[in-house]
Amino acid sequence: MKLLALETSCDETAFAILEDGEKVLANLVASQEELHRRYGGIVPELASRRHLELILPLAFEALERARISLEEIEAVAVTNGPGLIGSLLIGVSFAKALAFGRGLPLLAVDHINAHFLAAFLEEKKPSFPFIALVVSGGHTALFYVRDYLEFYLLGQTRDDAAGEAFDKVAKLLGLGYPGGRIISRLAEKGDPQSIPLPRPLLDQEGFDFSFSGLKTAVAHFVKDLQKKGLPVPIHDLCASFEAAVVEVLVKKTLRALNATGVKNLVVAGGVASNKSLREEFQKLAREDGFFLFLPRPEFCTDNAAMVGVAGYQRWLRKEFASLDLDVYARSQFPRYQF
Ligand SMILES: Nc1ncnc2c1ncn2[C@@H]1O[C@H](COP(=O)(O)OP(=O)(O)OP(=O)(O)O)[C@@H](O)[C@H]1O
Ligand SMILES: [Mg+2]
Repeated sequence: MKLLALETSCDETAFAILEDGEKVLANLVASQEELHRRYGGIVPELASRRHLELILPLAFEALERARISLEEIEAVAVTNGPGLIGSLLIGVSFAKALAFGRGLPLLAVDHINAHFLAAFLEEKKPSFPFIALVVSGGHTALFYVRDYLEFYLLGQTRDDAAGEAFDKVAKLLGLGYPGGRIISRLAEKGDPQSIPLPRPLLDQEGFDFSFSGLKTAVAHFVKDLQKKGLPVPIHDLCASFEAAVVEVLVKKTLRALNATGVKNLVVAGGVASNKSLREEFQKLAREDGFFLFLPRPEFCTDNAAMVGVAGYQRWLRKEFASLDLDVYARSQFPRYQF
């Protein structure tokens, strides 16, 4: 069964073609980094316009890469939220038109659901139930995942997402956009223990996160130095900031594993491509004896292959979307009940 999946929730226009829900025949991501860099963040209206320009040529390129014709596609999967409304509308309108024009089933996919299902694109697949930590530009959340499309929220960030914190810290340090990759590269040459930074909410019960205080702590540290006319130790600061984020993410996730008694862990979303976070989880999986599933970095950042995995599960369940499918900016996930 061949399925076309697309993703336009943020600033990546992405297409994938999957066979039987897991074999990736094509996976294309057109990033808009260049377009938004000068603004230090995504400009929603520019993002939707770029999606509109890219969507058709990219669809044809995906078919070409997969070496198949449009006639062979049996279903269309699309992200309809959460994300930027204007951007989502471009992808959803395209998917509807294709589904209507060719008489194909339309499959609606939640972007966060898709992020953790990216684990199924790898050789070694997780079994249910598993805990999923989704760490991205817009989300930081822990889920108890009972089945592909059935999952419950354990906790999430009360303010900034982890990726957002990386981006904001990079911006205030004048390092550029997007910040995650830049900070983690600079952090490699720094001492993670050199600058004491807070570990927000770590001493509190529960599974919620908070990253805005950490960002403010970095800002204060920089301002203090500047007032004294001292240089900012950029490598040490990046390393210390990264260590604080990683420690909070890892410890809260371990808490979720212990509290639920679950032995399988999926870590996904853009920040899951962070080397230090990956290494820390790998080390702990060996020590604590849980099973870790980390999608490769290209399946952690936004892509359409993960949308295809979720879409295929909808297709198996015959959960087809109608042509009046709407988009949404935020997700409301059901809570896990202890
Ligand atoms: N190596 C890295 N280390 C830390 N953060 C990273 C790294 N690579 C990417 N990121 C961060 O990941 C985020 C992008 O991830 P992703 O594409 O999944 O987010 P998004 O789609 O914008 O948000 P969401 O999935 O919540 O809608 C950015 O905030 C970026 O800074
Ligand atoms: Mg994302």
